[in-house]
Amino acid sequence: MTWKHNFDTSPDVELQGALRKDFHWGYATAAAQIEGAWNHDGKGPSIWDKFCHTPGKVKDDSTNEDATRAYDLYKEDVALMKSYGVTAYRFSLAWSRIVPLGGAEDPVNEPGIDYYNRLINELLANSITPFVTLFHWDTPQTLEDRYGGMLNQERYAPDFLRYARVCFDRFGDRVKHWITYNEPGVYTLAGYAGGMHAPGRSSFRDRNEEGDSSTEPFIVAHTELVTHAQAVKLYREEFKPSQKGVIGITLHGNYSDPWDVNDPADVAAAERARQFEIAWFADPIYGTGDYPACMRDQLGDRLPRFTAEEKSLVHGSSDFYGMNTYTTFFVKHRTEEPDINDHKGNVEKLDTNSEGKSRGPESDTYWLRTAPEGFGKLLRWVWNRYHVPIYMTENGTTAKGEVAPTDDVLNDTFRIEFFQGYLRELARAVQDGVDIRSYFGWTFTDNWEWAAGYTDRFGVTFVDFESEEKTRYPKRSAYFLQDYFQHLIARE
Ligand code: FCB
Repeated sequence: MTWKHNFDTSPDVELQGALRKDFHWGYATAAAQIEGAWNHDGKGPSIWDKFCHTPGKVKDDSTNEDATRAYDLYKEDVALMKSYGVTAYRFSLAWSRIVPLGGAEDPVNEPGIDYYNRLINELLANSITPFVTLFHWDTPQTLEDRYGGMLNQERYAPDFLRYARVCFDRFGDRVKHWITYNEPGVYTLAGYAGGMHAPGRSSFRDRNEEGDSSTEPFIVAHTELVTHAQAVKLYREEFKPSQKGVIGITLHGNYSDPWDVNDPADVAAAERARQFEIAWFADPIYGTGDYPACMRDQLGDRLPRFTAEEKSLVHGSSDFYGMNTYTTFFVKHRTEEPDINDHKGNVEKLDTNSEGKSRGPESDTYWLRTAPEGFGKLLRWVWNRYHVPIYMTENGTTAKGEVAPTDDVLNDTFRIEFFQGYLRELARAVQDGVDIRSYFGWTFTDNWEWAAGYTDRFGVTFVDFESEEKTRYPKRSAYFLQDYFQHLIARE
């Protein structure tokens, strides 16, 4: 149909062919958000299964029991992705589908392995490159019950490593792009500081029965960093020599701009916010090999210390910088002493700056606004600080009013403008010398958006969640991305 493909790329003529010929593009998803089949074929429970079956935890009281039924419909989904022209697909493995009880001594579930084999083979048969995330937030519930999951680094590490080993061993002949953890920072902040995500721990007793927001997020983050590095060591020593893949981590990070650019205290606050959010994980891996000094200054001994051995293990433990980013905030310094539960660097994050300029048009998600300029700054900040190749692993938006698959809704110009703005910035950054090798839109279909349930629709495909078949309806942004990448990616 012509309405799908009539995009004018002429304003961006100078960006034609800006991206490398082997640039990977496609969509990213996460097992707990799409698969459904939450207890089928031997799958064990994850912390999200428990969380969403606890009343009051999810906005629309929904569960992910069915989600988009990607477990059943993977063939149709691959065919649809193929029709969207993608060259790659980023998805995550559900640990408790592969090792239902999670632990190093617990049995492997062959039907779970078979499912991912079928999916990987289907992708390869369609010339779509799989990018596989080992962990996208769904810790096996049994490990949480046995020893508190990631709060117990010593007991957790062998369990995670054994799971990683099974994945490298069983899928690594075909998977050449591995991501250990998705957004360790959001996992720990939302799960252990805010307590709004599984496993639902925080200092706030009106919300959570247990937890300590002033210490646990930093402990869990430390566990993630060290066990990421241990999994990479395992891959590099035992699998990479024959499998020849790359492995890294994906970090979250929105951009922080000063609220008042003429106030040195706000300029410093914005930099501190970037370090608390991003350098917290990235400095140990790609930078100094330790946590940022501003975090140590504010948090003191509440921030764990790397042993000498951990430090050298973590430093250099990622072949690339996996970047998930969505938006930008204006950041203002605070004059009061930092709150004990602060994890942002003692700043305020605002929607408008000192001149009343908005950070961007509102989406259907409270924290997310379209802010492409900040994205361009973020790419340069990360590149200048770390100088490693960047794989964009998530970026996208919701749009207001997407409640039914009407023509208006499917012609999702708000999302198209978001993607166009961000991709322009990406292509310009590449022209300026930033090494960017992939782009995964978040996300392929509308899905189960964690604690927001089915209310936040991020897909380039509308899903009718009421229907038995979870019917998919392509939105126009899917065709926009197809056309725009054809324009941006070099042919020769
Ligand atoms: C990221 C998550 C992803 C999805 C998007 C909107 O933080 O990695 O699963 O929730 O945000």
